[in-house]
Amino acid sequence: MKIHDKATISFSDGSNSFEFPILKGSLGADVIDIRKLYSSTGKFTYDPGFLSTASCKSNITYIDGDKGVLLYRGYPIEQLARSCDFLEVCYLLHYGELPSVKEKKDFDNLVKSHSMIHESMALFMNGFPRNAHPMAVLTGLIGGMAAFYPDSLKINSVEQQDLCLIRLIAQMPTLVAMSHRYSLGQPYQYPKNDLSYTANFMRMMFGTPCEDYRIRNILVRALDRIFILHADHEQNASTSTVRLCGSSGTSPFAAVASGIACLWGPAHGGANQACLEMLERLHAQGGISQVGDFMERVKDKDSGERLMGFGHRVYKNFDPRAKIMQETCREVLAELGVENDPLFQLASAVEKIALEDEYFVERKLYPNVDFYSGITLRALGLPPDVFTSIFALARTIGWVAQWKEMINDSEYRIGRPRQLFIGAQSREVLPLVDR
Ligand code: ACO
Repeated sequence: MKIHDKATISFSDGSNSFEFPILKGSLGADVIDIRKLYSSTGKFTYDPGFLSTASCKSNITYIDGDKGVLLYRGYPIEQLARSCDFLEVCYLLHYGELPSVKEKKDFDNLVKSHSMIHESMALFMNGFPRNAHPMAVLTGLIGGMAAFYPDSLKINSVEQQDLCLIRLIAQMPTLVAMSHRYSLGQPYQYPKNDLSYTANFMRMMFGTPCEDYRIRNILVRALDRIFILHADHEQNASTSTVRLCGSSGTSPFAAVASGIACLWGPAHGGANQACLEMLERLHAQGGISQVGDFMERVKDKDSGERLMGFGHRVYKNFDPRAKIMQETCREVLAELGVENDPLFQLASAVEKIALEDEYFVERKLYPNVDFYSGITLRALGLPPDVFTSIFALARTIGWVAQWKEMINDSEYRIGRPRQLFIGAQSREVLPLVDR
């Protein structure tokens, strides 16, 4: 990280001006290093939603939102999605390089050897209502892992950091599948280590003791690709939550649980479920013939309706994941013989109108990864309320890789934003009778 230049801040009231270094990364926007701003000027910056604030330095994932580029450790997402499997991408995000044949085999075996959860976790599960949202259950279960692995509190031990990462990647599929089966009132399926990571997950989700799940390679590959697309996305809301929570030195399982809680919201990971529900509503209201009216509603701020699966804080061009997702969706529908899926046709019609509509063009609102992911996941047999847990399963590697990067960064400190206070100034408490 080089010091590139300097920025000078001056004040209209004539008080002293100050210089701040400008730091240059390997790609993307330079940053003005304002760490000494308060001690030099007595002032903070104001940036709700962190629109202009870099909260850390990172070498994991890079996004160029104007060009629609997403790189994991320098590799374009399109190439990773076409040439690698999810565990190779986990290895890449974790260690910084793609694995050799031997490294991949060892890593796959290591992950598999940790796929069984502690049996007491099943008892813990029994306490949840069967109709609980899977994200509520997952938040509790992942936070609960800290109770089973107390050594994870040795956060400065690289061995513990790695073990925690392996346990989380290995057990997430087991826990997501368990919570799904619990909601159906069906028995849990134990992991089967002769299957691939994603085939094993699908078997745990859909297989029963009476009837084993028939593995279909195209469907497994599609879900594996969905995992790759969601594996990391630099400092998004849930990753920033994991970093902020983890910055206090808490258990990494607790930090990941906080990320899951954040991901749940409809503006973030909940958008795939919200998008599918939106398309289903539109279909029920008349489908393609109603698209025109619907598009008017999403443009009207008073309607309270947004076009879910469109727009992104960083991408002001196509989300590169959306293109791969659309391709994957077509492959899945073709494999299942439902190319004419009405929701896919509806989504394509909505996309076409939006891409030509001045409202969306002016605001640079393009489809994001969630626009086609709901239709794909539904076609794979997954119910909408499990979609966000699938996202959480995939994002776990990103959360832990980012957490580990933070813990090992010599500049890391507990996160503690400041505020612009607009409340009452200091005043006296009157006795109750005088108020
Ligand atoms: N539908 C209609 N209008 C929209 C949409 C949308 N989906 N997204 C943004 N706009 C409009 C806003 O109303 C605003 O208009 P204005 O300038 O006239 O006030 C303008 O576009 C800018 O929008 P902001 O909300 O300020 O953009 P921000 O960066 O804060 O929000 C977000 C990004 C939350 C993703 C937003 O686009 C959205 O709500 N999209 C739908 C939900 C969604 O798909 N989320 C998934 C994100 S990807 C992910 O998490 C994996």
